[in-house]
Parts: sequence; structure tokens; C-alpha cells
Amino acid sequence: MKRVAILISGGGSNMLALVRDMAGVHPARPVLVASNDPAAGGLAKAAALGIPTAAVDHRPYGKDRPAFEAALLAELEKAQPDSLCLAGFMRILTPGFTQRFAGRMLNIHPSLLPKYPGLHTHARALAAGDAEAGCTVHEVTADLDAGPILGQARVPVLPGDTEATLAARVLTAEHRLYPATLRRFAAGDRSPLFL
Ligand code: GAR
Repeated sequence: MKRVAILISGGGSNMLALVRDMAGVHPARPVLVASNDPAAGGLAKAAALGIPTAAVDHRPYGKDRPAFEAALLAELEKAQPDSLCLAGFMRILTPGFTQRFAGRMLNIHPSLLPKYPGLHTHARALAAGDAEAGCTVHEVTADLDAGPILGQARVPVLPGDTEATLAARVLTAEHRLYPATLRRFAAGDRSPLFL
């Protein structure tokens, strides 16, 4: 059984999709949900499901990312995860941290990478007039949103779409893609999944 820690910054809908999937027959189970924001809505949702949670507020550390990461690592070490899933975790990680979890850390990003790394992905897809949008699960490396792709799901961009309607359609696809990709990854399969 692989032990998975999930890092969140917000509502945690992807975290919930992962946790719900791991409740069934699955090669992994959740051992910790941690957030850089003590007010992240996902923490209470995880706790309600009986999953250990931790909050390491990044703000007191200011620009000292290594110090924040050391505190986060201390929480992670208590849970002894084999893998980390970033699920709406909105802090950039230093190469020291990504190296420590090389090959063991996944992220979900709301675009069809390599298109639109970084922020405001839906606005950028709309501004470009793209006919398709989607999401990507990838391994986390030192380069932002650029690690090996493990899975991708596509959705159409529809006439009249706004950032909000497109984001909602992509998020629904995220909830299908991330659990399916983690399932394969935890079983040792790193070949990309296309939904
Ligand atoms: C998701 O759309 C995820 O892809 C995105 O944040 C949202 C989190 O929602 N992640 C990023 O933008 C990472 N750069 P959730 O908290 O409901 O899972």
C-alpha cells in the first residue's frame, strides 16, 4: 500500500476526488492532507473524513521559502508518505524540495500543458480563441508545470464561455483525471493517460 500525502491551498475538491477514490480497492491510501493556508476549506473536509491534517502557514516565513518548506517537511515526515499529490497547492516549491520528492510528486494543472503554465490558464485559453481546453497531471520537477506528463483530459471551449464556465468544465474533468492517474501511478504505471 502506497502512502499518499495531499497538499492543498483551497477548497480541496481535487483532494476529495482523490480521497474518495482511495476509499475503494486501490494501491494507495491518504495519510495526510496539509495546507499552507490554515483557513483552507479542504482541511475541514479532510478532517471530517478522518484523515490527519496539518497547516503550515507560509506567511510568517515571508520570502524564506526553504524555511517554510522545512516546516512543511517536518509535518510530512510524521506521516511518512511515499508520494505527494499537489491538489490546488499554490506555492512554488524550491528545487531542494522537488529534488527530495523526485519521481514521487504529482501536480494537477488546469491547462493542456505545455500550453499555459502558471496562472490565469482559462483566461489565456479564451483570449487565444482555443477550441479545446483541459487539465494535466504531471510529475513535479524544479521547472514550474513542466515535469513529465502522466495524464491529460480535454474539454471543449463552448461559445459564450467565460473564465468561470470554462473553469467549472475543466474542474469536472480534473475530478475524473486525477484519481484515474494516481491509481495508475501508485500501481507503478507512468505511461500517460489521455481522457
Ligand atoms: C484546480 O483547478 C487546480 O487545477 C488548480 O487549482 C484548482 C484547485 O481547486 N491548480 C493550479 O492552478 C495549480 N497551479 P480545488 O482546491 O477545488 O481542488
